[in-house]
Amino acid sequence: MRITDHTGTAIGASVEDFDHTSASENDIAALKETVYRRKIAVLKGQRLTPQEFLELGRRLGRPETYYEPMYQHPEVSEVFVSSNVPENGKQVGVPKTGKFWHADYQFMPDPFGITLIYPQVIPAKNRGTYFIDMGAAYERLPDDLKGEIEGTRCLHSVRKYFKVRPHDVYRPLSEIIQEVEEKTPPVRQPTVFTHPMTGEKVLYLSEGFTVGIENEDGKPLDEELLQRLFEATGQLDRDFEHENIHLQSFEQGDLLVWDNRSLIHCARHTTTPEPTVSFRVTIHDARKLHAGLEAA
Ligand SMILES: [Fe+2]
Repeated sequence: MRITDHTGTAIGASVEDFDHTSASENDIAALKETVYRRKIAVLKGQRLTPQEFLELGRRLGRPETYYEPMYQHPEVSEVFVSSNVPENGKQVGVPKTGKFWHADYQFMPDPFGITLIYPQVIPAKNRGTYFIDMGAAYERLPDDLKGEIEGTRCLHSVRKYFKVRPHDVYRPLSEIIQEVEEKTPPVRQPTVFTHPMTGEKVLYLSEGFTVGIENEDGKPLDEELLQRLFEATGQLDRDFEHENIHLQSFEQGDLLVWDNRSLIHCARHTTTPEPTVSFRVTIHDARKLHAGLEAA
């Protein structure tokens, strides 16, 4: 196994000759250390079935199965499928996922620390995923804004981007909304927490999932504060040119492993839709999202 940090950027490292079936515990520890330190590790030259992809994920921790069945791989439910390519005329997984800034499972009470993406069908033109390191973004916030959010908490919900399911057709919208609010009520997390693996401070919010902010007494604060935070971190830049934004490209055989605590990401927009398929496995590592959840 050979690890090489990408040059000219603070994010990313390539990992060559990684074989999850023969990797030693030291190799796994080195891989995880790379994920936390460089935020994205690109495993090169992977050729895996969905089951093997899941086994690779298991080497890093405990897999989380996505809560909505329509996203699950038909044979391996722990594998989440994003696809706009029908198989034998049938939709598998869900098309156009994640085209908004978010951290995976940010709207859930116990988000996982590591996301793995294994692209299967790669667009010819607009390939890659946008990322923002919210640890670095927090560091760059002006001091007065840092002061303003001290002790605050954010509310996260899936409500803005919940995708209706095939069986929702003909259901009243109000009933679907009520179901979403009951099944996945908004969760509160500290606006800034300490990353348990790196000790850095992370600004934990995203334009896609963060729907409110409140002070330490639980009193809602003006929504405009959230907008300023989205703006300052680069999430409102429709051209994706903000200095915080990193475009991570990939090629066939690449498997991306990233730090889902400190990175938010956004699928790349394509004006002309190209065939795209990717598999995802998500993993709880040895710690919760932040120390405040450990006792819960
Ligand atoms: Fe995502």
